[in-house]
Amino acid sequence: MSIDPQDIETHSHESRWFEPSPEFVAKARVRSAEEYEKLYRESLDSPETFWKRETGDLVFRSPWKELVEWKLPHARWFEGATLNASESCLDRHLSTDRKDAPALIWESEPGETRRMTYGELHQKVVELAAALRGLGVKKGDRVAIYMGMVPEVVVAMLAAARIGAPHTVVFGGFAAESLRDRINDCAAKVVLTQDGAYRRGGVVPLKATVDRAVEATPSVEKVVVFRRLGQSVLPIEMKEGRDLDWDALVKQADPEAGAPESVDAEHPLFILYTSGSTGKPKGVLHTTAGYLVGAHVSTKYVFDLRDSDVYWCTADVGWVTGHSYLVYGPLSNGATCLMYEGAPNHPDWGRFWQIIEKHKVTILYTAPTAIRAFIRQGTDWPKKSDLSSLRLLGSVGEPINPEAWVWYHTNIGQGRCPVVDTWWQTETGSILLTTLPGAHKMRPGSTGLPFFGVVPEIVNKAGEPVGREKGGLLILRRPWPSILRTVWGDDERFRKQYFSEIQGAYFTGDGARQDKDGYFHVVGRIDDVLNVSGHRIGTAEIESALVSHPSVAEAAAVGRPDELKGQALVVFVTLKPNNEPNEAMKKALTEHVAQEIGKFARPDAVRFAESLPKTRSGKIMRRLLKDVAAGRESTGDTSTLEDYSVIARLREED
Ligand code: WTA
Repeated sequence: MSIDPQDIETHSHESRWFEPSPEFVAKARVRSAEEYEKLYRESLDSPETFWKRETGDLVFRSPWKELVEWKLPHARWFEGATLNASESCLDRHLSTDRKDAPALIWESEPGETRRMTYGELHQKVVELAAALRGLGVKKGDRVAIYMGMVPEVVVAMLAAARIGAPHTVVFGGFAAESLRDRINDCAAKVVLTQDGAYRRGGVVPLKATVDRAVEATPSVEKVVVFRRLGQSVLPIEMKEGRDLDWDALVKQADPEAGAPESVDAEHPLFILYTSGSTGKPKGVLHTTAGYLVGAHVSTKYVFDLRDSDVYWCTADVGWVTGHSYLVYGPLSNGATCLMYEGAPNHPDWGRFWQIIEKHKVTILYTAPTAIRAFIRQGTDWPKKSDLSSLRLLGSVGEPINPEAWVWYHTNIGQGRCPVVDTWWQTETGSILLTTLPGAHKMRPGSTGLPFFGVVPEIVNKAGEPVGREKGGLLILRRPWPSILRTVWGDDERFRKQYFSEIQGAYFTGDGARQDKDGYFHVVGRIDDVLNVSGHRIGTAEIESALVSHPSVAEAAAVGRPDELKGQALVVFVTLKPNNEPNEAMKKALTEHVAQEIGKFARPDAVRFAESLPKTRSGKIMRRLLKDVAAGRESTGDTSTLEDYSVIARLREED
């Protein structure tokens, strides 16, 4: 832990309450705090009744025998049930009028629109599932997906799920090295990719990155390439015997072979890599029934989804938000989802608002970092578009500062739309803290209350509750359906990372407090994980990328508060002898990190140091470096610092 829980802020800057409008409340599923309370109590006191009712619309081929088994740290949910996640997301809608309703409305960056009904999406998933089977992909085999934001990435995920092959989606911003590590960690058999994607007017060469990654991935047998751009826009090379054209492959497949595989409740659905406080990214494992239930039920209540909604989650499918709230949650609810390929500022900062007007978006779910970027561009941009279709707004991924919340509520929601500030993690699979939009008043900067079945607590390092208005560690006492099951291939790390800090509970890595009204305020990570523009980055990953550069002797990465990004990434580097600490070196190191991890992980500042502050036992004192990066005095204990002059020299170089 690099932050002492006692240092967590204990007061609110914002004490105003905002109420949902009577019109919103009148149509909501849950209409009052009392109704929420009743359901919440039921979810804890009579969980069988609660989950049976709330999962009634999902497709279980056989019912579960045991709701939950909790043998710390392993939870098992819905044991005895068999199902296929793609049936709940697709097949179940075919016998209703949702069959001809759009499942996806896709807006490309250059501005064209594609619509895909549930019937069409189902068809495409069946075909690809059959094609994957034809390639020899079997239940349990891993399928890696490295694609941009195109409907085919949804097809890819659901096709893998359909044949019981866990998918691992790797965000298209990751570099070849990172992609390779992930493929190798889970030994994926097939990679699904596309030639390239449009991004901010340029082209991202995804296939070329896959080519570099699979030079050293012994498990990969085939690479299937979707042609998003075509040879004339982005020529790609196809390697004979390994690379296959998506369309050609699907055409040859026998759709009869696309039937859903029935799997057990605890069969792995996907692995998603995320940064931890130490070492390499961890493969967070989610299993079929629990995850699907978590995504399904939370989407239904938190976004209060209706068939008439056009729901837009702006997250990339490569992150967990894209998994739960672009794919599994909304599709299992039969929602119409908007999916946008490109950047929020292409061709200008009005793009999001034009998309909302064009497609009559009713629900927008986005990240504080985007909201803060929009604030900088001024209110003229949203004013140019008609935003009257919007009825609900959501925020996710990092703490939203009250000012940004109020701006969002006023300028985008036009005072009419409730804002749900949803707290959760890759590991939690679905939203755990939030307000329900028709039931609760909102306090800017606070995520609100526990979702059904969730028992959060704020404790000190000894695991004792700290009470209201006091900072502490956010833990969860009981398992919820979509809790991660393990870290792929490393159960010991799973135990250590999440269950060793506080006895008998899941430790989130976040610091938080509960205000006098019981609302939770999550202030952010207290471990060595950074949240830069809503992207989770482990300091250890950045450091290991830096020390892999031939000029670097030692490196430490820390976060610095940043108005736009939430946190900015600052790295302190000690060079090997005979290397010049100059601007060219800064640039080279920045590029090196982009090469090793991805452009989104580029340091915002590189600072050279003759040596790094260490404890007598040789541990880098990140806390002090954070103070230096933020330009503030260190108030904490420095008695373990080995050499005081190191800090003084670092400050002088500022
Ligand atoms: C942070 C993203 C405050 C938190 C879904 C968490 C938040 C980490 C919020 C998980 C929120 C997410 N308010 N902080 N509403 N939502 N976080 O795994 O620090 O990419 O631990 O999952 O983001 O990031 P991850």
